[in-house]
Amino acid sequence: MHQLTKGILIAIEGIDGSGKSSLAKNLHELLAQKYAVLLTKEPGGTPLGRQLRAIVQEKKVPVCPKAEFMLFATDRAQHFHELIVPALTAGKIIISDRMSDSSVVYQGYGRGLDMNAIKAVNEFVMNSIKPDITVYVKVNANVAIDRILKRGENLTSFEKEEGGRFIERLAYGFDELYKNRPDVIIIDGNQSQEQVTQEALIRLRSLLR
Ligand code: TYD
Repeated sequence: MHQLTKGILIAIEGIDGSGKSSLAKNLHELLAQKYAVLLTKEPGGTPLGRQLRAIVQEKKVPVCPKAEFMLFATDRAQHFHELIVPALTAGKIIISDRMSDSSVVYQGYGRGLDMNAIKAVNEFVMNSIKPDITVYVKVNANVAIDRILKRGENLTSFEKEEGGRFIERLAYGFDELYKNRPDVIIIDGNQSQEQVTQEALIRLRSLLR
């Protein structure tokens, strides 16, 4: 087992149906052969987060955009307190299926909330810790919707909104947010799962030395 001098925080981002959850699982499986790795997610990485995730996903009661963001931010605060900070201190590699940028894109570009407010709250709940690297799995909105339907899954409330135009705004949001960012690896999510994993692994290698 290789022991790292300090932990590494890797966020995996992309729209639903991009293949980011498969990538997170595959990377975990491969990296765990050599390193101590924590695979986690937002929302729902902690017991509190799982309760909050049910509220935002099921939408049994009305949730306004600001409340929606604060639920994700609450999940994030608990996630950092309970899992991320201790794992970084223990020198682990953390692979998180979504993190703060999902709020910038879904609640900022998607819902139209003030980006600076979102970024300020994110910084507060994350104790000013940023992912060391973000892997963005990029696919077009129509490819993502096709994949979700082919998996036999129902579209979530996000994907159904505005007849698919919402998800187009999300794809645009990620593309805009990740322009000219040295801390972001952009991977073509139209490739096979194996290709996506191999490319991510090669591009993460310099970070793991
Ligand atoms: P996720 O758990 O990735 O969905 P799945 O059930 O497919 O694993 O995420 C749930 C939804 O929450 C997803 O559509 C994206 C959305 N989301 C936000 O809107 N804002 C956020 O800050 C986060 C982390 C997720």
